[in-house]
Amino acid sequence: MIKSLEQLELAKNLLELEELRVAIFGKKGLLTLEFLKLKDIKAEEKKAFAQSLNEKKKELTTAYEQKKLALEKLALEQELKSQNLDVSRFSFSRKTGAFHPTIETMNTIIRYFQNLNFSVEDGPLIENDFNNFEALNLPKHHPARDMQDTFYTKDFNLLRTHTSPVQIRTMLKEKAPIRMIAPGAVFRRDFDLTHTPMFHQIEGLVVDKEDNVSFANLKHILGEFLQEIFGDVDIRFRPSFFPFTEPSAEVDISCVFCKGKGCRVCSQTGWLEVLGCGVVDQNVFKALGYENVSGYAFGMGVERFAMLLHNIGDLRSLFESDLRLLGQFR
Ligand code: PHE
Repeated sequence: MIKSLEQLELAKNLLELEELRVAIFGKKGLLTLEFLKLKDIKAEEKKAFAQSLNEKKKELTTAYEQKKLALEKLALEQELKSQNLDVSRFSFSRKTGAFHPTIETMNTIIRYFQNLNFSVEDGPLIENDFNNFEALNLPKHHPARDMQDTFYTKDFNLLRTHTSPVQIRTMLKEKAPIRMIAPGAVFRRDFDLTHTPMFHQIEGLVVDKEDNVSFANLKHILGEFLQEIFGDVDIRFRPSFFPFTEPSAEVDISCVFCKGKGCRVCSQTGWLEVLGCGVVDQNVFKALGYENVSGYAFGMGVERFAMLLHNIGDLRSLFESDLRLLGQFR
């Protein structure tokens, strides 16, 4: 037994230790055999014998466990020493993801207006008729409702056809002065080369005391914005019609592809339409109980901006999740 203890302490590696474990604690091990002797021992000596055996067992077990820990540590150290890991060696780089061009474009536009102190507002995709049409000076049966072919739900709500209802929600929630943009998805019953049933818009609205907001302010802010996004382009405001703005305009930039000479993308006109805007119609304010204020609003299609910025020919490719296209934006 004393010898066993010495042997345990002298074990040089885990293999030797394991052999000793079997020789001492195993089925036919020294200790096990000692315990078997118990049954032949006289009753009056039994207790003392058992006690001393148990003590020995404890001693041996402790010695074994300590040695095991020490040898395991040693083995690990040796293994680490024997590996030479060259952290400076060339390895294949991991492919990282990227934002979808639509989202990336949206974020760029949002950031621009946030820097001008516009708040970012949100609204639901399923809207009621009041917010999407009625409050925007589009009463029932108004022919201008046909400008936006609408998906209706069974309960006479609808999928918002533009982000303009967020103007209404924000004006109902707050009071002037207001400076907000509202990015998000919108829906129309349309599907061809330049239209998809779902796309994204960013709305803008500024409301303040009558003297503080004018069409000139609108022209200035949008001009600066478009030059920042598209670089050195010419900008023109073309009279247009929206029921919720008066006067209204559509904004064109000189074609970014042919620099205004005329090409396939701009249908030989040299101009690309990028925005709708105008001075908020007083009927909108009246419906919401706003008095003595004036405002301007604008709205733009995010996919259209993404296509022009990245020279993407077909709008639908922005919705197809084709990695050959998306991989180019990494
Ligand atoms: N809501 C309009 C559209 O979807 C765009 C617009 C917004 C026009 C704000 C003027 C002012 O066509």
